[in-house]
Amino acid sequence: MSLLMCPVCRQSLNLVENSWRCEKGHHYDVAKQGYVNLHVVQHKHSKSPGDTPESVLARREFLQAGFYQPLQQAVVEILQQLKPQAILDIGCGEGYYTSAMQAHTQQCIGVDIAKTAVQRAAKLNAEVVWVVGTGATLPVQNHSIDICTSLFSPIPQDEIVRVLRDDGYLIVVTPAPKHLFDLREALFEQVNLHEPQKFVEQLDAQFELKQAHLVEAPLQLDQVALKNLIAMTPYAYKANLERRKGLEQAQQFTVTAAFQIYLFQKRKKPSM
Ligand SMILES: C[S@@+](CC[C@H](N)C(=O)[O-])C[C@H]1O[C@@H](n2cnc3c(N)ncnc32)[C@H](O)[C@@H]1O
Ligand SMILES: [Zn+2]
Repeated sequence: MSLLMCPVCRQSLNLVENSWRCEKGHHYDVAKQGYVNLHVVQHKHSKSPGDTPESVLARREFLQAGFYQPLQQAVVEILQQLKPQAILDIGCGEGYYTSAMQAHTQQCIGVDIAKTAVQRAAKLNAEVVWVVGTGATLPVQNHSIDICTSLFSPIPQDEIVRVLRDDGYLIVVTPAPKHLFDLREALFEQVNLHEPQKFVEQLDAQFELKQAHLVEAPLQLDQVALKNLIAMTPYAYKANLERRKGLEQAQQFTVTAAFQIYLFQKRKKPSM
């Protein structure tokens, strides 16, 4: 049974001959690259939303080189404990983590608002259901998902509560306070520490924190990897151009990536 929901009428979607169809007759063709576009015009605010093609490409090259493999592994280990049947990765990007998660569940959906990212993702793993869609209206049926994940991506709380089964889980990955500190120090006059804790506070009413893991990855970057790392982060456009150009001259750069992983469980609704 499919977990997808028609973004127009909210009925369930079924795959019939390469087209996802609802009972009301809305239909969405699977593109030849192997993804479906469920981002309907009613929900669109921009012509090409989400990450730019340049940052998607930089992220693909950086991640394929294995620099964030310790994080991918740590997320997989949590899935191995929980043994979910259905996972939804929100803001899946070009699919590096989604693709690894797929091996640990029966059904895996990756959704992202950026079409170019999903097109790249679809080439990685044909077992994932790749969807262009928005977190604001997740194209997924109510109470159908065991684990939602959001890695460095938006966290649409109410929609996550809607699609999760009772007792379902939410995995959030976000930069730890000193994530890429030396890199940021080279790019910015003043460096603010990341504040992962604020996610725990924001989610507290609907989600209970179950586990917190800090994952660190020391990185030895050559010039190409350094440029990709800068291009795939918001630093690309926030940093002073002179400083960025100066830093990008470096042949080698050593820095530590630090990730905060939170595992939350959906709280039970208070009984009336
Ligand atoms: C920093 S990237 C992270 C991508 C991926 N999770 C990773 O870690 O490699 C954030 C992603 O969120 C996507 N995004 C932004 N707003 C979104 C929305 N409203 N719905 C779905 N995806 C969104 C962007 O297109 C982008 O691919
Ligand atoms: Zn429909």
